[in-house]
Amino acid sequence: MTASLNIAVIGAGAIGRTHVETLGRMEGMRLCALADPSPAGRALAESLGVPCLPDAEALIASGLAQAAVVATPNETHLPVSAALLRAGLPVLLEKPVAESLDSALRLVAAAEETGVPLLVGHHRRHNPIIRAAHAAIRGGLLGDLVMATATCSLAKPASYFEAAWRRTPGAGGPLLINLVHEIDLMRHFFGEIAQVQAFAGDQRRGFAVEDTAAVCLSFEAGGLATLCISDAAVGPWAWDLSAGENRARFPAHAVSAHHYAGSRAGLSLPDLTLWEPQGEPDWTRELQPRKLPVAQGDPYEAQLAHFAELIRKGGEPRVSARDATANLIVLDAIRLAAETGQAVRPDLSALERFPAKPNGFAS
Ligand SMILES: NC(=O)c1ccc[n+]([C@@H]2O[C@H](COP(=O)([O-])OP(=O)(O)OC[C@H]3O[C@@H](n4cnc5c(N)ncnc54)[C@H](O)[C@@H]3O)[C@@H](O)[C@H]2O)c1
Repeated sequence: MTASLNIAVIGAGAIGRTHVETLGRMEGMRLCALADPSPAGRALAESLGVPCLPDAEALIASGLAQAAVVATPNETHLPVSAALLRAGLPVLLEKPVAESLDSALRLVAAAEETGVPLLVGHHRRHNPIIRAAHAAIRGGLLGDLVMATATCSLAKPASYFEAAWRRTPGAGGPLLINLVHEIDLMRHFFGEIAQVQAFAGDQRRGFAVEDTAAVCLSFEAGGLATLCISDAAVGPWAWDLSAGENRARFPAHAVSAHHYAGSRAGLSLPDLTLWEPQGEPDWTRELQPRKLPVAQGDPYEAQLAHFAELIRKGGEPRVSARDATANLIVLDAIRLAAETGQAVRPDLSALERFPAKPNGFAS
């Protein structure tokens, strides 16, 4: 029998606790330690009966961990993860890969130089619903992808913003924290983004970061999409509030939040309903809905299982630092478009020195 992998969780906040709970359900891996300087982190470690180290350096020095999940604030992703990689410890790093393009590129370079696995936590890509949707879209069930729309209304409570980083420019805001998931999925389904246009506002909350944004995307391969996001708007039309991915934290309303319309059929998510015409498409005839088959599965568990496989067998991560950095480049383009009122082309040339590698999953 293979020995259990000793995994540490660094940053025992909101999502760190999800990883801790998920690790508790996994076979072949176990939580060996937490690293978090806060009293809440120490209290959690005590309740779990595992050691709590103050930071990544102390964790590395302790020799307790074979790999780590990094769930610290965005602006710490580079120093924490680079230290782990340089110490030879594989990393599952929460999204976004970093707070800035410069930090993200340094992290891509660290992963390349060390050859140690670095998986970025765009967990939705491990969701069976997304995998089934990807197979349907890339397999041509919708015909050519013509347009898509994703909504993301997340009425976050005041307590959420007590952590200062969540309202600090360069570290927080719903573009970097939440929209990065939607960008990642749009790239996953449509391919690279050719141009963006955007509006962003901070009027609802009055923080230094935006609270609401509307974004238009055009894709290199053709097709258009709109994304509408707010952390101050009430409504169930958000992936987080409909997909049932993290039921300990979020309800799962029976609505769709993403709509993809192709030349032959449409697809709504997360309900995974395909809307097809009988015969040739004709807007005057009723479409037939059909649920696509999907196996049940927890994306956080699937993500950790993939991480364990990378540690044990090697291979390319399903979401590499390079891939996640392309999401940041698109976000920077969205910010610039919102500031200038101009259409902006995301410039992926900074990634050219890091060749894309096939990851063994249809991506
Ligand atoms: N995949 C997802 O859906 C998802 C969901 C939520 C958050 N996130 C990401 O996870 C990260 C953490 O977000 P959160 O909402 O859990 O934050 P949080 O503020 O709730 O928790 C962060 C924790 O990290 C600790 N910490 C801070 N600096 C540290 C350091 N240098 N070393 C060790 N611990 C440190 C803090 O004490 C705190 O306990 C962010 O990057 C965020 O974007 C991802």
